Amino acid sequence: MSRGRILSGMRPTGRLHLGNYVGALENWVRLQNEGWQNFHMVADWHMLTTGYEDTSRIQSDTWDMVLDWLGAGIDPERSVIFVQSQVKQHAELHLLFSMLVSKARLERIPTLKEQIRDLHLDEQTISYGHLGYSVLQAADILLYKATHVPVGEDQVPHVELTREIARRFNFVYCQDREPVFPEPEAQLTAFARLRGLDGSRMSKSVGNTILLSDGPEDILARVKQAYTDPKKIRATDPGRPEADPNDGHGGCVVWEYHRKFNPAGAEEIARQCRAGELACVPDKKHLAQILADALAPIRERRARYAKDPGLVRDIVEAGNRRAREVAEATMEQVREAMNLEPGKAEVPGAAPHGERGR
Ligand code: TRP
Repeated sequence: MSRGRILSGMRPTGRLHLGNYVGALENWVRLQNEGWQNFHMVADWHMLTTGYEDTSRIQSDTWDMVLDWLGAGIDPERSVIFVQSQVKQHAELHLLFSMLVSKARLERIPTLKEQIRDLHLDEQTISYGHLGYSVLQAADILLYKATHVPVGEDQVPHVELTREIARRFNFVYCQDREPVFPEPEAQLTAFARLRGLDGSRMSKSVGNTILLSDGPEDILARVKQAYTDPKKIRATDPGRPEADPNDGHGGCVVWEYHRKFNPAGAEEIARQCRAGELACVPDKKHLAQILADALAPIRERRARYAKDPGLVRDIVEAGNRRAREVAEATMEQVREAMNLEPGKAEVPGAAPHGERGR
């Protein structure tokens, strides 16, 4: 028995990092294994909203990301993996939905405001497509009639808009018929965002990440650079795993990673650190080992798929076909509800049914 359907997407950013795993992928795999019907989309059209000029990396970034999904345990026998641009129904539904949303409503979306700030964009020159980002996302979700959308906190406003659009569509076009769309719910990831190794937001462009495909040496080199309590110099200095806002100390990143990847040992490590019984260097080596062990199965599975590009291509093509089937079934209901099926309508003045041999 299926518990419901989830749709989630990621923009193709190439190789994924630990934050993508903890914040999303790990959750996708768990849901898949619990019997949800998973649809996972490479959001390549979404990528264009903030980077339409240079498209040279879209293909390689797509394959790198799909390999990480497969490596993390997305099982193509149970989950559908597909590419947004290969399912044209997304464009059609996006267009129809764009009539149901006001420009002012889109301008209020906090995610858009943050992007304008973070990417130093000018509100006046923001593109029509970028403004409509979340309408496209609503189309992504509702095409598959997803009941749940596993996302991070930052995406909740998009799911909220999706619910409004579903409600609006059902109200406007389904008065005398079954509603076409469910109102999907955001399903927040249990573990809060993992910070980057330097303590700031984890991001590939900052270079403060560990990639899922990194080997043990890379991981050790990365962890060695991690931010710890700056006041703990010697092994015998008492350290502060937790943040101390009075002093600008953001909290030890190594400790944060222990809590996530070494939950059973984390408390004892914090105790030793506070007591001045633990030096940072051996503790970092310890963490690097834990991370390398945790990532080994992912890296190995990824490598097996990477050796068989034909298989990966087949997986995505089969996913695209399955996605198209589901999406087209939804679009047939949408077009019917909106009277957008001229082929089925009566031509005025034409002979009554049956006499024209149709
Ligand atoms: N906006 C999402 C992000 O930036 C990606 C995305 C596109 C998405 N379409 C989606 C996520 C549909 C969930 C559902 O991460």
